Amino acid sequence: MTVLVTGGAGYIGSHTVRQLRELGRHVVVLDSLDTGHSEAVLGAPLVVGDIADGELVEQLCADHHVTSVVHFAAHKNVGESMRSPAKYWRNNVEGSARLIEAVLRAGVTDFVFSSSCSVYGTPEIVPVTESWPIGPESVYAETKAMIERILHWYGITSGLRSVSLRYFNAAGASFDNAIGEDWTYSANLIPVVMKAALGLGAPVEVFGTDYPTPDGTAIRDYIHVEDLANAHVLALDYLTSGGASTALNVGTGVGSSVFDVVRATERISGRTAPAVLSPRRAGDPISVFADPTLVHSTLGWSPVHGLDDIISSAWRWHSTHPNGYDT
Ligand code: WQD
Repeated sequence: MTVLVTGGAGYIGSHTVRQLRELGRHVVVLDSLDTGHSEAVLGAPLVVGDIADGELVEQLCADHHVTSVVHFAAHKNVGESMRSPAKYWRNNVEGSARLIEAVLRAGVTDFVFSSSCSVYGTPEIVPVTESWPIGPESVYAETKAMIERILHWYGITSGLRSVSLRYFNAAGASFDNAIGEDWTYSANLIPVVMKAALGLGAPVEVFGTDYPTPDGTAIRDYIHVEDLANAHVLALDYLTSGGASTALNVGTGVGSSVFDVVRATERISGRTAPAVLSPRRAGDPISVFADPTLVHSTLGWSPVHGLDDIISSAWRWHSTHPNGYDT
């Protein structure tokens, strides 16, 4: 009874690997280490390779007696996906299809997939429920929606049961500061604000201050990476207990603005986060936050941590690991 975690040397993957092992689960990680770090798996069995390598996947499933999969491995830069779409079709979609085929050959029946709220595009109604139409607005988001559909059809043709977890804005770091995000590969708001407050990056560009929101800046649902990891653990338990395939929004249900994030960082760090007010970023929705009703009723999951926990853990990690795992 081993869980294969692809991308388990990455940000959300490493936090999930750790939680599974702390619960006594056997885990094996498959990661190309293109953007992941071997240090992040904290000693878990690690196979370095590509999810598209069917023979490698099938062999490691046999060697480790894999019965379930949590699939994180993917390219995730929205902007890059629009500049280099082929890289995303090949790695995210073709790679995931080959992975699914290989684990099915190995007898795996339970599959948890790292999806994204970006499959909804720009929701016109918030909080966002799973009934909102799928309408990706980037190649990255489209790859996530396509993989969800591939899983749906493998459910019909092969009996594979899956849970697709549609993340909102993952952020923060482990509370003991052992693992965290490598900001090298992230242009997301919170690592950018951290870098600015540490004086290690340019001032934060606030993308738009003229939104119809309380303070004029855009609103998102920031979810602590430990809460997000816990949702994967519960999704595996749900499938092990015979749960039917589904897709679930994983967010706190609380919206925070860009200025909320900047102010919380300054309050918690005691530093000034230099910021410049800039025009809106193309494609940014005004406000996106989750309705967590279904993930709670299905998995029994609820978020534990709010924005201050996110900011304090992120600050602790980035201020002590300015070069990430290379520090
Ligand atoms: C957050 C807010 C920006 C940077 C991401 C992923 C998406 C999904 C959800 C996983 C927005 C503003 C940002 C900056 C800013 N995750 N911002 N200055 O765009 O909500 O979506 O998380 O799949 O795939 O892309 O995240 O962190 O880029 O932006 O003002 O330098 O912060 O406009 O309002 P986003 P983000």
